[in-house]
Amino acid sequence: MKDLENKNDLTFKASKDFIAKSYIKKDDYDTLYKESINDPEKFWGEMAKKISWIKPYSKVKDVSFQKNDLHISWFKNGILNVSYNCIDKHLKTKANDIALICEADEPGNSKKITYQQLHDEVCKFANLLKYNNVKKHDRVTIYMPMICEAVFAMLACARIGAIHSVVFGGFSPEALAQRLIDCDSKLIITCNEGKRGGKIIPLKNNVDEALKIKGVDVKNVIVFKHTSNDVNMEKQRDIYYHEVEKTLKKTCEIEPMEAEDPLFILYTSGSTGKPKGVLHTSAGYLVYVALSFKWVFDYKDGDIYWCTADVGWVTGHSYIVYGPLANGATTLIFEGMPTYPDASRFWQICSEHKVNIFYTAPTAIRTLMKAGNEYVKKYDLSALKLLGSVGEPINPKAWLWYYDIVGNKNCPIVDTWWQTETGGIMLTSLPGAHLQKPGSAGLPFFGINPILVNDSGEEVNDSGNLCIKDSWPGQARTLYNNHKRFYETYFQAFPNKYFSGDSALKDSDGYFHITGRVDDVMNISGHRIGTAEVESALVSSPYVAEAAVVSYAHDIKGEAIYAFITLMKDVKDCEEILKEIKACVKKEIGSIAVPEIIQFSPALPRTRSGKIMRRILRKIASNEYEDLGDISTLANSSVVADIIEVHKELI
Ligand code: PRX
Repeated sequence: MKDLENKNDLTFKASKDFIAKSYIKKDDYDTLYKESINDPEKFWGEMAKKISWIKPYSKVKDVSFQKNDLHISWFKNGILNVSYNCIDKHLKTKANDIALICEADEPGNSKKITYQQLHDEVCKFANLLKYNNVKKHDRVTIYMPMICEAVFAMLACARIGAIHSVVFGGFSPEALAQRLIDCDSKLIITCNEGKRGGKIIPLKNNVDEALKIKGVDVKNVIVFKHTSNDVNMEKQRDIYYHEVEKTLKKTCEIEPMEAEDPLFILYTSGSTGKPKGVLHTSAGYLVYVALSFKWVFDYKDGDIYWCTADVGWVTGHSYIVYGPLANGATTLIFEGMPTYPDASRFWQICSEHKVNIFYTAPTAIRTLMKAGNEYVKKYDLSALKLLGSVGEPINPKAWLWYYDIVGNKNCPIVDTWWQTETGGIMLTSLPGAHLQKPGSAGLPFFGINPILVNDSGEEVNDSGNLCIKDSWPGQARTLYNNHKRFYETYFQAFPNKYFSGDSALKDSDGYFHITGRVDDVMNISGHRIGTAEVESALVSSPYVAEAAVVSYAHDIKGEAIYAFITLMKDVKDCEEILKEIKACVKKEIGSIAVPEIIQFSPALPRTRSGKIMRRILRKIASNEYEDLGDISTLANSSVVADIIEVHKELI
């Protein structure tokens, strides 16, 4: 347990002034946390009063994790509308306050949207959806860059009760099509083109390609003209937003929604090649993200908050859009990337908009740390008062740089652990209540009861599989159209609790330290990518006979992809083939899934029953050949030495 002892060494505390002003102090946490665990119905019943209801709920919680009766329901019989809670609710007092700051890819181009303008734009958009026959519970896919129209589109769906499925703009047409087919989307909202790092992203062209794929049944495409270039438009099917905008009314009645009506589907990688459509519903999700946003980031009226995630991932949903807007906050959305035009872009934006709360991913922090302190020091970051991290473990070196150089030793850092499936933040150190420990995601949020279990499901104290006992309102309710897979993925391994798929350590102060995934999911630059998805993309190349994919530790990305490939008979490995294989992955999934290293091998290590031994490949990719464990069960143990030889030449 030496590892664990070391993890207790370094601690940091927010300033006296910060603590004095914070919502939750140590004693509040201790009392409220106990209450939230001992009597969740009372705790969440109270918290749910903070959002606006059309009709109040009659039962706070109705949950069973049992195989034949798996159901999760919060705030039963309550009626509400999420878009009302994010917009209309604030109009009386905040109509002219800024809801969104939209910062373009190129510096010097920002736009501010007040709550009144947000209302008008969302209504116009909702009316267009209605005009195109989108009804309550219909699925609408959003494939957009990081611009304010993406937020309008999401809230417009919520306003009329349509279920949005936002697909990350970096996904390929094939990946988009797969997600369109799975939830049977009838309409897509996109842009003519996106822009990122000075490069054009051909979103509408990608949509056109996706729509040619068998099984896609999209009737209409709404296209925002974001750049000046024209794109192919199909009469009848495609609608240019600017051509109809003038006809759209700036008011649109809200659709009354049941607490458990779906709000959105968000696809995420799992252990098989098919992404999972994680489904979140209306009331529980909103209550959870609204409360966690306010307390974790200690958001006060007037603060400028910036989360750098993409709206295509859950962080963008919960902590760019729904959490902040439910609190009447000012939330910044940035189209570009941290290193364009140079590595000072984040800091320049923080300084220009006087950002107070900044939430980003360890990969970005490591990239900017590598670029050098001078990029940070050029700008006045004195408005910053809190920093956040999400998506992957943050190594103490990056944490300390973030703390010292970006935060000027004056900003607490909240390292937040959570998942697409959890809806909102589950573990973190609350800034006014807890000491922060670099590398630890801290303590449970209210109502969250995390435990560690060994592989037999017995509760253990310090190291094991991270599970959550009992339910919380932000929890996903199912996988779209696949409740069986929902059960099998999250509730089967350890009955009666939610299994996160992560492993963790718990130190003597009760702080959690996430140690990684225990399933076949990789975390590349904070993006979740399944090994099976990449393998199936690799074998879609006519040159590839079989492929096994593992991840290895990477200085900047946290983890990077290493693929072992056996080529078809008579195919010679060469640069050309390598390029074509990489292009296949780009085509099937997108650039984020292209392996960093591809190694060709005449065979892959297999057990006698034919299973590829990934454990061995993982060790080789991580340069741990000395300790391969027992390889005597392999059907072809001689290939291992050859694979190691080639690996040594490659790196
Ligand atoms: O492995 C954990 C890692 O990201 C996974 C969830 O990925 P996703 O559903 O895409 O959501 C990412 C943003 C919430 C987790 O199972 N992860 C997330 N946050 C942290 C983390 N690992 C360590 N520390 C974190 N703070």
